[in-house]
Amino acid sequence: MRTAVYPGSFDPITLGHVDVLQRAAGVFDRVVVAVLVNPRKAPAGEVASRVTAVREAIAGEMPDLAGRIEVRAFDGLTVQACREVSARHIVRGLRAVSDFEAELQMAHMNHRLAPEIDTVFFMTALEYGYLSSSLVREIARFGGDVSAMVPRGVADRLRAPEGDGRRL
Ligand code: PNS
Repeated sequence: MRTAVYPGSFDPITLGHVDVLQRAAGVFDRVVVAVLVNPRKAPAGEVASRVTAVREAIAGEMPDLAGRIEVRAFDGLTVQACREVSARHIVRGLRAVSDFEAELQMAHMNHRLAPEIDTVFFMTALEYGYLSSSLVREIARFGGDVSAMVPRGVADRLRAPEGDGRRL
């Protein structure tokens, strides 16, 4: 069985992530979505809420693939998460050339840390090439409509008042 880990902050999950996940599930037998901390970004949403939002997105957007996709929070390195779930591949999405440099660096570094693990890139559909979690969050914060950018439910969670357990 070919297992891949799709790591990310998913802060929050967007339709671009959903697109990459669907593509990955077309190639791998099992995909583990690893919700991780990116030490270069301050997380806005709690890890538990991000995991729940990813699970809801899978159930809502790709119910036929749900049996082959797991969502888990991990602490630490992406390559450790891969080893824990016996994955030999890391999946990442590329939106534009501007993503490439940082992604190449991470892929080489992960390969250096774990030579048995390779990174596979999927190009995000053109219509999602402009999407980013941080922009979605910013637009939602100022009352903009993000319903065409995120899975159903995420927009509601982003709008939930502070202190509401659903809030992302
Ligand atoms: O969605 P993001 O923020 O682009 O994801 C980045 C992420 C979480 C995949 C990256 O920061 C990561 O791998 N974090 C875990 C710590 C780690 O393995 N760092 C070394 C990367 S070479």
